[in-house]
Amino acid sequence: MRQFAPETLDAALYRAPAQYEIERRNIFGRSWLLFAHESQFAEAGHYVATSVAGYPLIVVRGEDGTLRAFHNVCRHRAGPLAEDGEGRCEGQIVCRYHGWRYALDGRLANARDFGPAEGFDPRAFGLFALRCEIWRGFVFVNMDAEAQSLSETIAPLDERARELPLENFRFWRRQTHELRCNWKNYVENYLEGYHVPLVHPTLNEQIDAAHYTVEVVPPAMIHWAPPRDGAPMSGLWAWLWPCLGINVYKDGLMMERMWPLGHDRTVLDYLFFFPEDLAPADRERPMQSSGVITAEDVRITEAVQRNLDAGIYSTGRLSPRHEMGVAWFQSQVLSATRQP
Ligand code: FES
Ligand SMILES: [Fe+2]
Repeated sequence: MRQFAPETLDAALYRAPAQYEIERRNIFGRSWLLFAHESQFAEAGHYVATSVAGYPLIVVRGEDGTLRAFHNVCRHRAGPLAEDGEGRCEGQIVCRYHGWRYALDGRLANARDFGPAEGFDPRAFGLFALRCEIWRGFVFVNMDAEAQSLSETIAPLDERARELPLENFRFWRRQTHELRCNWKNYVENYLEGYHVPLVHPTLNEQIDAAHYTVEVVPPAMIHWAPPRDGAPMSGLWAWLWPCLGINVYKDGLMMERMWPLGHDRTVLDYLFFFPEDLAPADRERPMQSSGVITAEDVRITEAVQRNLDAGIYSTGRLSPRHEMGVAWFQSQVLSATRQP
């Protein structure tokens, strides 16, 4: 039976700064984003700060043990609060510009040497708060106060991941790769196995790419390919809108964030997790194989980006056999783009 082959998104959407501004607001500003792991916040004051799609964000553990998320931006004159990375602040978050101090729950505790001022109510100048929810130890944030809860959003994926011993994994290492391509280009590459025989020769020996499937369970997707002997990638291989790859190995896990740095640059921000008692040598194997696959994907997506930028190609067609995951992703991008 002949199936419908959807048209791809217009190439202009992969190179226009104005489109990226819409995506920042309507996609990254409204979706659940994997930010950190609970184990990174052992005590009150421990924080993780990172920018996502140009939004500086921070999650910090409060004196009451609660994890809270904020924009990492001072309410005085937009000064920088915590530096990007992990650390611990002693009871308060201090702005590095003029020294305003915020309690760990976001309240403005002290506007340093501000002077008597009429009409200035410190209670109105607490940090901009975000949603922060946890799924099986993974800390997600959402900038949209109206968004559906994380547990509802992640339910289709949770169902598939129920058997996996995610709680046994401990955070091991973060690794980043920067590349010159639009973030959608990299995500789409992640959402199909059609390219595996040409782009990933080693992976192609480990899986049966002819039977590679991508099942769409909105807002997630589940990849599956029959493994051949010794495949390090066997496990769950999934993805969550808008840009989170979930790669479960036999003995470990890599959470793959594909975050835009602008309309033309993307950072792959990987978090590796392993069982506590796994020997370092056994951690190297999946890390190495992920490094090889990443390098192959970076090469091809950067080449695609140069062609999208060249202005010859505008749209193509998606394979109904292999690229229905890409089609779903593109339909979501279009509908997010049309929202006010
Ligand atoms: S901008 Fe933060 S104290 Fe001035
Ligand atoms: Fe790939």
